[in-house]
Amino acid sequence: MLKILFLLLMITGTFCFVKYSIAEETPKNQGEEPEGGDCCTASKTGKIECTELAKTMKEIDKNYKEIKAISGYTTFGEKDWNVIHESSKELIKHTKKVINEFPRPENSKYQELNKTLLAEAEILLEVAHFKKEVGAVEDAQWQIRNIRHTCASCHKHLGLHIYPNLYPKEEKK
Ligand code: HEC
Repeated sequence: MLKILFLLLMITGTFCFVKYSIAEETPKNQGEEPEGGDCCTASKTGKIECTELAKTMKEIDKNYKEIKAISGYTTFGEKDWNVIHESSKELIKHTKKVINEFPRPENSKYQELNKTLLAEAEILLEVAHFKKEVGAVEDAQWQIRNIRHTCASCHKHLGLHIYPNLYPKEEKK
């Protein structure tokens, strides 16, 4: 009798455990970010062609996604700080390219937001240099938010809807 009871307990135990692990595995955030693509068009041959600016944006996007992916962590390990360091350097490089090669002198807000993005990326790099300081993680997270805000501001300013969920909540209509 005892043996059967024990067995029953084991079975229900396993069942609960399995159920619990499945529930745990279900991702909380199903919303994948859509790929931008408005600025790339299919040519006559069917090949996708992007403007040079769009290609640079894709690079900017790649680096932004890398820092965003770790921005929710409560602590950053050596590897995470390396990502911050490398990605902010890349962001600086590509933003400088946008400023120098794709200026829009007639659009002062565009010009200004590019400079803002450069400045924000430079601050993030600076934070990475002070990673040992108290509050460095929070500073980096804050900075990543500022960067996102700048991406969104410019896309919004230009009426680009390639990347709607880059827009901070308060900017949604
Ligand atoms: C100062 C303006 C400006 C800022 C800041 C800016 N973008 Fe853009 N972005 C553009 C413009 C303009 C285009 C459209 C390019 C085209 O049509 O050739 C674009 C296009 C894109 C695209 C679509 C590329 C494709 O596949 O066609 C992505 C993705 C993107 N930006 C991501 C970002 C991210 C991420 C940031 C911030 C880290 C950012 N952008 C900051 C102006 C900006």
